[in-house]
Amino acid sequence: MKKRVAVLISGRGSNMRVLVEAAKAADYPAEIVLVVSNRLDAAGLAWAREGGIPTAAIDHKAFASREAFDTAIDAALRAARVDLVALAGFMRLQSAGFVEAWAGRQINIHPSLLPLFKGLHPARQALQAGVRISGCTVHFVSRDMDAGPIIAQAAVPVLPSDTEDTLAARILIAEHRLYPLALQLVATGRARLDGHLVRIEAPVNQAQLVCSPDTAGAC
Ligand code: GAR
Repeated sequence: MKKRVAVLISGRGSNMRVLVEAAKAADYPAEIVLVVSNRLDAAGLAWAREGGIPTAAIDHKAFASREAFDTAIDAALRAARVDLVALAGFMRLQSAGFVEAWAGRQINIHPSLLPLFKGLHPARQALQAGVRISGCTVHFVSRDMDAGPIIAQAAVPVLPSDTEDTLAARILIAEHRLYPLALQLVATGRARLDGHLVRIEAPVNQAQLVCSPDTAGAC
């Protein structure tokens, strides 16, 4: 049985799109049954609608509190009989109750090697810190923003010529590789929560997760 996945977005939705594309494979262990956006004008929402994927546009500004908004999201997820939630550029902090309700069943992607560079502008933070390697992380969602047990990471070089935009673009390509792989690990139960760590039960092809300076252009 494929896991029923909802993807929550706030904008462009490129990570949502790669999950949708990956889930088209007959042997992929998850199906995308719902795309939810808190922004009615999100480009990703229009793309999902055009593709015939069930969508829910739930405007956070229409709710008096974070809890009320999260209750509406939760209702949409339950109505769609969702097993797993994948945050993909969903730029809303969640209430403690919601995080607890979906603990171990909700994952997020962030464009840095966590625990470094949480929050906004991680590529800018990486450049300012002078690191030579950055990347992206998929993790289970916990109470703290861009934290929680790490499922998978991909490394990307920071090049001397990089601007915030070129680095973010290189990391985004790595995100698009990593997220389908990480969702697959979770959906098959091969990535399991064990306290504050994630245990991976089968070997992961590390070569897929590293992009060397030599291949930076292509990665
Ligand atoms: C992605 O880079 C994602 O990692 C990031 O927002 C972007 C969304 O792009 N998420 C965060 O920063 C979460 N803290 P997308 O809409 O094209 O997937």
